[in-house]
Amino acid sequence: MNGMTKDKVLEFLEFNKGRPVSGQLMAQKLSISRNAVWKAVRSLRQEGYSISSATNSGYMLLPDNDIISEQGIAAAMGEKSAGLVIKYLPSVDSTNNEAKRIAAGKAPGNMLVCAGEQTAGRGRLGREFYSPADTGIYFSVLINPPAQAPVGVGITTAAAVSVVKAIEKLTDKKPLIKWVNDVYLDGKKICGILSEAVTDVESGSISSIIVGIGVNISTSEFPQEIESTASSLFAQNVSKNELIAEIAKGVLDYCTDFDFSRVREYYKAHCFILGRKIKYTVRGSVKCAVAEDIGESGELIVRTESGEMQTLASGEISVRTD
Ligand code: BTN
Repeated sequence: MNGMTKDKVLEFLEFNKGRPVSGQLMAQKLSISRNAVWKAVRSLRQEGYSISSATNSGYMLLPDNDIISEQGIAAAMGEKSAGLVIKYLPSVDSTNNEAKRIAAGKAPGNMLVCAGEQTAGRGRLGREFYSPADTGIYFSVLINPPAQAPVGVGITTAAAVSVVKAIEKLTDKKPLIKWVNDVYLDGKKICGILSEAVTDVESGSISSIIVGIGVNISTSEFPQEIESTASSLFAQNVSKNELIAEIAKGVLDYCTDFDFSRVREYYKAHCFILGRKIKYTVRGSVKCAVAEDIGESGELIVRTESGEMQTLASGEISVRTD
């Protein structure tokens, strides 16, 4: 089976997901024979796609299909996928690494790099991000070149807003944000975000921004170190393609021409640490404070135990339970 033909048939079916399309129409539009359409459908079924067929109506990709593909993401993004290069890899070390490799080769414009699994998924502060096959979405939005250089934690907080908004739109779940950019559901982390910049060595300027996002969708077992703090979305009736598409639309919208004021109120309304006692580390010493507000650029404003106001521009905090 010619891979290109199969990809085109999949594209046709994804753009009409849940609606029957006649084999004859597909054959005509794709300039292939009806037999080639049938072979492509057979091959897609072997890959796990549920495609119904009826003599009068044709082929239909059933709504409950949940296989990540470039075609499925493009269909879910609709017109927002125009000009965006989408790349799906069944397995990769890290989609942020892949995006960096692409950026180093002078990537043309914005890109979305997704993977079925990551063998060396990276988290913030040099940590690992657990990324098992098929139970999560792992992707990086490469913004290339950015309209302006990123300022502080703003881009990454805007990405967290994109994740929460997408989940609220597509599911009945109500996730919350832990500053800076961890997304929580029912007290456990379900999503992490790692934003990185690629610098042009010659000019010293930022040539691309990479916003890497990982959401646990149905991972039920985690490594011991995170077993008590990590969980998954476990949402019904939402496909991974739809979720990737909706989050990516938000990231592209907020981050290509960034202005934190567009997301500040939403961020504050969903940031569950505001008003709570927190702990953070400055130059090796642990400090206790109350999280008071989110500043103009996404920074965290805290009131220390001695009553002094301080601004945290980056870093990690934990919520105190005492
Ligand atoms: C964190 O929680 O510390 C951030 C995790 C970021 C994970 C995502 S998954 C897609 C992209 N590729 C990576 O290697 N990391 C990010």
